[in-house]
Amino acid sequence: MLVYLNGAFVDHVDAKISVDDRGFIFGDGVYEVTRSRDGVLLEVDRHVRRLERSLAGLDISFSPTDLPAVSLRLLRENNLARGEATVYWQVTRGAAAPRAHQFPPAGTPVTVYASAGSFTSLHEKRVTGVGTILLPDQRWARCDLKTVNLLPNVLAKQKAVAAGVHEALLMRDGVIMEGAATNFFGVIDGMVRTHPKTNNILPGITREVVLELAAELGIAVREEPMLVDDIPRLTESFLTGTTNDVMPVVAIDGRPIGDGRPGPIAGRLYSALMNRWRVGD
Ligand SMILES: Cc1ncc(COP(=O)(O)O)c(C=O)c1O
Repeated sequence: MLVYLNGAFVDHVDAKISVDDRGFIFGDGVYEVTRSRDGVLLEVDRHVRRLERSLAGLDISFSPTDLPAVSLRLLRENNLARGEATVYWQVTRGAAAPRAHQFPPAGTPVTVYASAGSFTSLHEKRVTGVGTILLPDQRWARCDLKTVNLLPNVLAKQKAVAAGVHEALLMRDGVIMEGAATNFFGVIDGMVRTHPKTNNILPGITREVVLELAAELGIAVREEPMLVDDIPRLTESFLTGTTNDVMPVVAIDGRPIGDGRPGPIAGRLYSALMNRWRVGD
């Protein structure tokens, strides 16, 4: 597998970073996960813009505008230009010693890494819908930045897996914020609701696209916090994310949502998303 590291395309086993890298030492970096279909990067401009925003949020100087071209070469050279793949981008504040919390001297090169891997759509799960559990949101106050500091997300997802469900829903002060790696949507009284863009959620690319598709389809959406107490009123619920697309949620903490089957609005939005991402025909 060929990967990209600091300007060079190298074999995965030869890609080495310093033990002084601030990504390793402090989790001082940002990332993106993008999808490709038949060699086309999906929503790539939005991913570049979000990476720019995350970099600016951490005051890391780097322009990611070359990463799409880098990604296309990774897809080609790794025989991923057909079918589905994911592409990972990560930028850290670079390597600096001795270890010190404050930023390293100006001019310290950032570390830039990109890789591509094959991807199998989670379609079987979409057919049945998935279960979720509610957990306290233990993340920091800038969840809107896509940083590699993912420990609360990692621990939450592990609890979900241990509970035999697909995703953990993170709640703060009685409000459902989002999933550990997805945005959360619910339908109450025929109205789709999702948390507004604040510092407490990641501004998901799929969330944004799904909101636009809902508007085109005439599906009413309110960007409004959803309370844990609202759960019994949900007639339908779903998650959005780069690897989840639109994923119906059929249970929260073992309690069925609606009739316990994937709902019609999730189905319509998923079809619209697939239509938007139809490549090469
Ligand atoms: C915490 C969190 N929320 C939401 C999302 C969904 O974002 P996107 O649709 O851009 O993949 C992700 C994706 O990784 C995430 O980590």
